[in-house]
Amino acid sequence: MRFHIFTLSGLLAAALLTAQSAVADADIAKGKRTYQQTCAMCHGRHAEKQALDTSAVIAGMPHTEIVIALEKRKNGEIEGGGNTVKARLTEQDMQNIAAYIETLGK
Ligand code: HEC
Repeated sequence: MRFHIFTLSGLLAAALLTAQSAVADADIAKGKRTYQQTCAMCHGRHAEKQALDTSAVIAGMPHTEIVIALEKRKNGEIEGGGNTVKARLTEQDMQNIAAYIETLGK
C-alpha cells in the first residue's frame, strides 16, 4: 500500500514538472517586440531611462531579477506606476522580455 502512495506522489511530481516546462525557451526577438510596444514608453527604447523618474535603469538587469520584479508587480506585491501593463504579461512574455533586457546595456 505504501508503495502505491509513493508511486502516486511520484506521478504528481512528474505532472508538476511537466506543467512548469510548458513555458518555452525565452524568445529574444519576441521579447524585443513586446518590450518596444509595452515598456519602452516609460523605460526608454534601450531600457536606459528611469521610468517616470523613479525606477532603476533596467538595461542589463539579470534575467531572474527581471522576472521576479515583473511577477511581484503583476501579483500586486509591489505597487508601481507601470503595474497596469505588467499585470497583462504572461509567464512566457516575462521570460522573453527578461531575455531581451538582459542583452541591453552591455
Ligand atoms: C507607465 C510607465 C511604465 C510602463 C509602461 C512599464 N513600467 Fe516598469 N516601472 C515603472 C515604474 C514607475 C517603476 C518603479 C516603481 C516600481 O517599483 O514599480 C517600474 C519598475 C520596473 C522594474 C523594476 C526596476 C527596479 O526599480 O527595481 C522592472 C524590471 C520593470 N519596471 C520592467 C518593466 C517592463 C519589462 C515593462 C513592460 C512590460 C514595464 N516595466 C512597463 C513604470 C513603467
